[in-house]
Amino acid sequence: MNTQFETLLSEVNRKISDLEFESSAKNLYDPISYTLDLGGKRIRPVLTLMSNLMFGGTNEQAISAALAIEIFHNFTLLHDDVMDHAEIRRGKPTVHKKWNENSAILSGDAMLIVAYQHLSKTNPDKLPLVLQVFSQTALEVCEGQQFDMEFETRSDVTASEYLEMIRLKTAVLLGCALKTGAIIGGADENQQEAIYKFGELIGLAFQLKDDLLDVYGDVSKFGKNIGGDIVSNKKTYLLIQALHHANAHQKEALNTWIKSVDFDRDVKIKAVTEIYNQIGVKQIAETLMTEYYNEALNYLKKLGLETEKTAPLLNLAEKLMYREF
Ligand code: IPE
Ligand code: IPE
Ligand code: MG
Ligand code: MG
Ligand code: MG
Repeated sequence: MNTQFETLLSEVNRKISDLEFESSAKNLYDPISYTLDLGGKRIRPVLTLMSNLMFGGTNEQAISAALAIEIFHNFTLLHDDVMDHAEIRRGKPTVHKKWNENSAILSGDAMLIVAYQHLSKTNPDKLPLVLQVFSQTALEVCEGQQFDMEFETRSDVTASEYLEMIRLKTAVLLGCALKTGAIIGGADENQQEAIYKFGELIGLAFQLKDDLLDVYGDVSKFGKNIGGDIVSNKKTYLLIQALHHANAHQKEALNTWIKSVDFDRDVKIKAVTEIYNQIGVKQIAETLMTEYYNEALNYLKKLGLETEKTAPLLNLAEKLMYREF
């Protein structure tokens, strides 16, 4: 028998494969289909549907919003890959590599509009709140992405600044996905807030895991090049903690790598990873991830639902912590 997760995932995938873009502007829509057809984990739309079911919804009303959130997420990836100079995503060339940067920008813009088209199919009595939550979240994602870029050239980024940055760029969208499903399913305001907080905390753990996989993952599973964050001097929790705990020698080495302009990519990745290993930043990041995960579980308990109802969500959250992609 299929788990709820598998059933919802195939529903989302079916709806996404049904999306058609009939237009003579083929080169605008091809990168969109390419991106959406490459899959990905689809966790955000599945979260929307799971939350919707949890609060008594039937998913018919929530599916358009779920699609909107997944299309929005994919849009952010097109632009993110330009900003991060990333060459591979989901094991395939990124849009700006396969086409060009202008395509990634414009097809991304179109995806944001398509996302709103789907969102607007939400039941009119729920639409104002759903729109408000979505638009607020979308702006916060942009704010997070702005800080992420600014931090690349700053050397004094603190752990709390980093955590606020990942809350904005990543965590709020998981919160939004869950809250949207809850609103459409008929959850009360306290439940909407609790499920949002659960998503936000899971989202913080999710981005910490993404940063860990960027250093310690396996490219064939992760689908993205390993070491991209190190090459771009991303102020990840790993780098911030490394700088914080480094001895004088390690600190000097890290700062030299951060400042160097002309370097061999693989040599830099290897050298910085070696310092990370000496300091043990992997364990430090994993500890924080677990803290967020446990804090998230408290919010799930606050919902006042039978454990049977929250079990699929709990399962998914746990799987995300141990993922390799
Ligand atoms: C990637 O998101 C961007 C981050 C917020 C880390 P996912 O890891 O959900 O990417 P896909 O959709 O599964 O490819
Ligand atoms: C992505 O963060 C956040 C958004 C796309 C909004 P990353 O830059 O770490 O995501 P990946 O690793 O490229 O998927
Ligand atoms: Mg990126
Ligand atoms: Mg990025
Ligand atoms: Mg990343």
